[in-house]
Amino acid sequence: MDQHSAIATPPAPILRRDYRPPAWRVPTIHLDVDLAAAETRVRARLEVERNAAEGALGGPLALDGAPGMVPSSVTVDGHVLDEGAWRIVDDQLLIDLPGAAHVVETDIAISPEKNTQLMGLYASGGLLCTQCEAEGFRRITFFPDRPDVLSRYTVKMTADRTLYPVLLANGDLVGEGDAGEGRHWAEWHDPFPKPCYLFAMVAGDLKANRDSFTTLSGRAVQLGIWVREADLPKTDHAMAALKASMAWDEQVYGREYDLGIFNIVAVADFNFGAMENKGLNIFNSRYILADPETATDADYDAIAGVVAHEYFHNWSGNRVTCRDWFQLSLKEGFTVFRDQEFSADQGSRAVKRIEDVRVLRAAQFPEDGGPLAHPIRPDSYLEISNFYTATIYNKGAEVIRMMHTMLGAEGFRRGTDLYFERNDGTAATCEDFVRAMEDANGADLTDFRRWYAQAGTPRVRATLEHEAGTATARLTLAQTVPATPGQPDKLPMPLPLRIALFGADSGTPIVAERVHVLGDEATEILFEGVDEPPVLSINRGFSAPVIVETNRSAADLAFLSAHDDDPFARFEAMQQLMVDTLVAAINGGQADEAAVVAAVRETLTDPALDAAFIGEAVLLPSESFLGDQLPVVDPSAVRRARDSLRKRLGRELEPEWRATYAATAANRFEYTPTAKGLRRLHSVALGYLDACGAADVPALALAQFEGADNMTDRQGALGVLANGLSGERETALAAFYDRYRNDALVLDKWFTTQAIAMREDTADAVERLARHPDFTLANPNRMRSLVGAFAANQYAFHAADGRGYRFVADMILAADTLNPQSAARLVPPLGRWRRFEPARSALMKAQLERIVATPGLSKDVFEQVSRSLA
Ligand code: ARG
Ligand code: ZN
Repeated sequence: MDQHSAIATPPAPILRRDYRPPAWRVPTIHLDVDLAAAETRVRARLEVERNAAEGALGGPLALDGAPGMVPSSVTVDGHVLDEGAWRIVDDQLLIDLPGAAHVVETDIAISPEKNTQLMGLYASGGLLCTQCEAEGFRRITFFPDRPDVLSRYTVKMTADRTLYPVLLANGDLVGEGDAGEGRHWAEWHDPFPKPCYLFAMVAGDLKANRDSFTTLSGRAVQLGIWVREADLPKTDHAMAALKASMAWDEQVYGREYDLGIFNIVAVADFNFGAMENKGLNIFNSRYILADPETATDADYDAIAGVVAHEYFHNWSGNRVTCRDWFQLSLKEGFTVFRDQEFSADQGSRAVKRIEDVRVLRAAQFPEDGGPLAHPIRPDSYLEISNFYTATIYNKGAEVIRMMHTMLGAEGFRRGTDLYFERNDGTAATCEDFVRAMEDANGADLTDFRRWYAQAGTPRVRATLEHEAGTATARLTLAQTVPATPGQPDKLPMPLPLRIALFGADSGTPIVAERVHVLGDEATEILFEGVDEPPVLSINRGFSAPVIVETNRSAADLAFLSAHDDDPFARFEAMQQLMVDTLVAAINGGQADEAAVVAAVRETLTDPALDAAFIGEAVLLPSESFLGDQLPVVDPSAVRRARDSLRKRLGRELEPEWRATYAATAANRFEYTPTAKGLRRLHSVALGYLDACGAADVPALALAQFEGADNMTDRQGALGVLANGLSGERETALAAFYDRYRNDALVLDKWFTTQAIAMREDTADAVERLARHPDFTLANPNRMRSLVGAFAANQYAFHAADGRGYRFVADMILAADTLNPQSAARLVPPLGRWRRFEPARSALMKAQLERIVATPGLSKDVFEQVSRSLA
């Protein structure tokens, strides 16, 4: 049954334009679940009624199931049906029903412990838990598994009391008791109609960190974060983040929580980050568990962000859900925007924006420029799991952010109020969201809707010319949207560009910031009274998710990196200066390394800047980002150029790095924004000291590693050592392993550190680590910690002999037999084969061809590989 998605003939795609309302509604469902790891029995009672809505499908009641699922009985209105009165076609249970309303009951046995896909009901470290989004509920019981079928759920769970003392489901606990023979039961009722992808159930030996929150209108909510007893001390940060999120959604969006209970459960085996099931969020434990000894500052931030994200879904996702999966960005793009703003409000807004743009550029831009490009509202898919992408999530969030920028915070809030008011309790579309924004503001977003339909990252060419005689400056803006698979021709997209001009002589702003919405292919803006040479600051705050090309000189960029009053623009100018220099070096041209050294020195020694910002600004762009700037990538050339600049920065600024390293040392761990910034800069400085090649650096790093009272400093030192060849490297890696071998989340870091190492032998090391006794493809975190991290290490993955490609292809094929969803997520790095120099390109393509020729491939992997080869 686990080869269920195996394909023989290529499956037919699902098309957005084929949407029809469901034939039957299911106002209520009662589940009676007898839980055990080997075999769980699920009895379902569905009230069904024919859908009178216009355009609704007709025909029999069609309930989705999974391959191999056969009910042991089917009952209609209390009468058991003969076997001939129902049939299974394409994994659907079809029942012809005579009337307009009936009660249908099914009975089925499933095996959680055999469920390696981690979709539906599965076992994880002694727990039983569920993941239903997108289409996991059909692996639990027969049901119309589509998000526009909303039902009220009552769930009775019965299980062994010793193995599973805690029984949780959505909504409110309405009863519990003894079931005899060492078993007990609990019944949960969720008063809010919901689609089945929001169903959840957990049974296990769990302990709760309990707290409470009183909502704006005075409702008391009991909060619980459920983990294994030993992990309880690691739940305080997540709890604080949850309460902060609840307060923030009230203040910023006027949204209150609506049930008396809000539970979170952490599980070790989980395909994604977390899941927003109504009143019972289920999390990958890496986004819950934290203490200074085991979690880095980045982990702390990610935890707060994901806790907020899932909580915010209660309104943007659950109260208003999606009509169909093509609308996924309706909830995900909006909710990512909400969690980004929450995090920006909790810490440094500038640093948060820098991090978010870095993620967008690392994950989404390559997707948008490659064979898997799709609009934020796709038109077709084979397997919906493949569409939980950076495009849907992160570009989706940028699209929402642009509406926020154009309408202003108040206009945007009017829009969301209207959106929630109109669509509460329903399954909505992206169109409903945009229309609410328009109607609440009297705005016209007709052309803006192209952001939902067109894939590809727009490019803006900005040219500023100054005429000293007339004291005018002319800014020419031109946009192009590149062709993407299936979309050869594009229309221009409205791009809100925040623009300002600075005086190169005076060093001050001469034209205050304005938002210009570039709606056409090209336009000209004239600035008057510009009596000194102006420097262009554009796409400030990254106001539009585009690539901007300008005619700015190295001097202009250096000037902005020191003087722009928008911190993001300041960071961006430095990055652009570094990119220009490195791309010139890679192309064998004139590279102005000295300008970069001078700009970094200025930033590093600017007393007005905080450490967190400096830590971001002085980092060189990653090798893969540099690769993205080139028409054809030669990873060796990228490594050579970047390494040379890194070493020069290290050498020429050695005194500054030493001073910075000393000034950022802390004697005791504190979790404050200031302390976090210092830790960040401390390890960045250590990295540059390492680059300068000073002999004392391995010892310095080992001292930091051994003396650290927190994981940020320890991992920072380990990362620096791991790139080198010192004896201290082996000492630290061995010590780290011994210390944390029983902590899965920290052991993941041990694998990742070695997989991302900038060494010649990284590919060998990764192949060896894949045979390490602690490595397993069964746990998605562990798989990603080694294989995912390695595939993101441009130089190592693209080893010239192709061994990296073969290794990742082997892993994809092996993982596919266990967990197709996770396997498919390893395909995109190979899918970028067209971007690389011919020898590597051919080797990559050969591995994709090997994968697609393998019999029994899942739909998930088949879709990603065949699209990559198309
Ligand atoms: N809705 C979840 C979140 O973003 C993600 C669930 C993804 N699951 C999946 N099987 N595709 O918060
Ligand atoms: Zn989400």
